[in-house]
Amino acid sequence: MAETVLVTGGAGYIGSHTALALLEAGHDVVVVDNYVNAKPGALADVEDVTGRSITVVDGDARDRKLVEHTMRENGVTAVIHMAALKAVGESVEMPIEYYGNNLESAISTLDAMRAAGVWKFVFSSSATVYGDPESCPIPETASIGATNPYGMTKQMIEVILEDVAASDERWTITSLRYFNPIGAHESGRISEAPIGKPNNLMPMVMDVATGRRDKVMVFGNDWPTVDGTGVRDYIHVMDLVEGHVAALEAMSAQSGYEVYNLGQGRGTSVLELIKAVEDVTGLSIAYEITDRRAGDIAECVADPTRANTELGWKTRRSTADGCRDSWNSQNT
Ligand code: NAD
Ligand code: WQD
Repeated sequence: MAETVLVTGGAGYIGSHTALALLEAGHDVVVVDNYVNAKPGALADVEDVTGRSITVVDGDARDRKLVEHTMRENGVTAVIHMAALKAVGESVEMPIEYYGNNLESAISTLDAMRAAGVWKFVFSSSATVYGDPESCPIPETASIGATNPYGMTKQMIEVILEDVAASDERWTITSLRYFNPIGAHESGRISEAPIGKPNNLMPMVMDVATGRRDKVMVFGNDWPTVDGTGVRDYIHVMDLVEGHVAALEAMSAQSGYEVYNLGQGRGTSVLELIKAVEDVTGLSIAYEITDRRAGDIAECVADPTRANTELGWKTRRSTADGCRDSWNSQNT
């Protein structure tokens, strides 16, 4: 069934790719974004690439009336809630802003949905809810315990969602725990363009590859990993957003609350990622080993079996594909 999907935070990195995947799968897309971390016009390229139009509302997901009105006006049938602040370090310095924005936008959107009679909700959660995992790969049944305010907003919203789903059988709610998204749409037209200094590894490596920055600071080479640098599960953003389409489409046969990991199930170290970028670009990426970053963990790799079997979804792109597409999106 074709849905009309409201994507809150849909002008951001993952949101714009989600809009693209939804349109390509035959769904309609409405976006509410306040541009706190996106540039106006970010979705024009998605419209160009798909030849489809998106209804874009410049507004705040915490504005309950606006969100309710937007849903009624456009016949929205499902919501993918991505609007959030997402920088871990900043969340330690600004917990009030993080809890305020992330919790209020989720609760307010749910309230607006109930008022408008929209009951399908997909939530952008994060592997960060696992904190420092006991072992890898991590299944959804692993214990959770976020170690920073940003992660705690995701954990708290997951708890709220479980309670909301249990409160009224009309709700169908899915939390998707993303591992580390990289890459861009194969067209190279849509990119990850964080405002200000990047926090994540791939945008940092891209800054060095393009000459915007001299070198990558590698946060420690004394971790208990393959080469001493941190290991993560880098998932291509197109695989990630296809996971959202699969989760949405599975909702017709679902009831209540579900949680899925979205990851490749394969770990890559910082040095391996830098090498992979060197291989696809032919460039040499300068780096320097520095101290560990506060709050970092050695390894974080998904067990994506539940999403594979229950959603019929699998990653189709490699880490090298993600490096190539991150690079291609820099050049256009
Ligand atoms: P992003 O910052 O590019 O996108 C988030 C978007 O939400 C931005 O366009 C921002 O302007 C918007 N926004 C924030 N607060 C808003 C509000 N109150 N009302 C309306 N719009 C608002 O980040 P992203 O990487 O695309 O992440 C999307 C979602 O996925 C977020 O919820 C994030 O926490 C989650 N997530 C991201 C990662 C990652 O590594 N990128 C990993 C796990 C989970
Ligand atoms: C990856 C690896 C770093 C930058 C964060 C959030 C998580 C999720 C994804 C939203 C680590 C190393 C990094 C650099 C480095 N976001 N690194 N030099 O920390 O796994 O996850 O983003 O939900 O919640 O915590 O991602 O890309 O920051 O780091 O050496 O300049 O790269 O130490 O090993 P992380 P990351």
